[in-house]
Amino acid sequence: QKGAYAHYMLKEIDEQPGVMRKLVQEYFNEDGTVKIDQALLDDLSQADRLYIVAAGTSYHAGLVGKELFEKLANIPTEVHVASEFAYNPPLLSEKPFFIFLTQSGETADSRQVLTQVNKWGYPSLTITNVPNSTLSREATHTLLLHAGPEIAVASTKAYTAQIALEAILVKAYGEAKNIERAKEFDVAKELTKVANGMQELVDEKGKIEQIAKDLLATTRNAFYIGRGVDYALAQEAALKLKEVSYIQTEGFASGELKHGTIALIEDGTPVVAIITDPKMAAHTRSNAQEVIARGANVLFIASRDLAVAGDQIILPDIDPLLSPLVSVVPTQLLAYYASMQRGYDVDKPRNLAKSVTVE
Ligand code: M6R
Repeated sequence: QKGAYAHYMLKEIDEQPGVMRKLVQEYFNEDGTVKIDQALLDDLSQADRLYIVAAGTSYHAGLVGKELFEKLANIPTEVHVASEFAYNPPLLSEKPFFIFLTQSGETADSRQVLTQVNKWGYPSLTITNVPNSTLSREATHTLLLHAGPEIAVASTKAYTAQIALEAILVKAYGEAKNIERAKEFDVAKELTKVANGMQELVDEKGKIEQIAKDLLATTRNAFYIGRGVDYALAQEAALKLKEVSYIQTEGFASGELKHGTIALIEDGTPVVAIITDPKMAAHTRSNAQEVIARGANVLFIASRDLAVAGDQIILPDIDPLLSPLVSVVPTQLLAYYASMQRGYDVDKPRNLAKSVTVE
């Protein structure tokens, strides 16, 4: 139940630090090793390529998962929109392993792909928040998100739980395959840092409410920009804002703007620049300058060690690969307040259903 909260979306945003702690409890042993079924690790270890299949926000969590699997565990990983894969599957590798990311476990587009994967006879894993859901029952393996019921149509805590669980799975896989980088990556410690960082951010609601008012009150469109995982995050942030505030929003790779989209920048266009990766920070800042020169109103969201004077939202420092876990929080709050300020039903946006059980 909502308790003291006016809306589920805000409650679910606030629950995220607790979900991170719960995942650490559920998936780590006392001695720091990961608690994941050996049969799952055996199947995963035999794969030569991972295929993550999902829709909407879960697809965006998959984009971050790809970075984790490839950077920490050297396993090639593709991420596919379920409705595209269903009718236009890519060429598969010899030993594919499929990961279905789905909060509800009932999304028809994803289920359609899983049915096909089962016909082909390939192993699969469903990562879901709902035990015994259809995709959980039909996949070879299941991992649960332990995020508690997500009621608001706009997915928030499921996104962060999915990324955290992908990181845990990468860790277990890396240990099983003896991969140095994954073994060194202290996921439990990072997720505890993430939980604390998320708490700092949800405690800054008043500030973000004011920024939403200043930046988004009357605009018809907005952009999120970033590179690497910040680009993945930009796509999720854009979906969140558009689905609850009806502001037309795009998430863009910041270096790609100049290839066309920059034509849309006018005096006062809101652009949110996400900067969490030291390798790409200077490049994103220079893209932000290009839009500022064309009149954009830029909000900078930057990690503490990359922040410069004038940046409005400062993120706690955590490993750049896991930064979407914290950078998403202010973008969820911006979406929530933009919807509130426009007087919309934030928990039940128009034209949308919580779980999309039709193709
Ligand atoms: O239950 P699922 O994770 O499979 O749902 C996928 C999408 O329908 C869902 O993430 C949708 O995009 C949300 N409304 C996003 O907030």
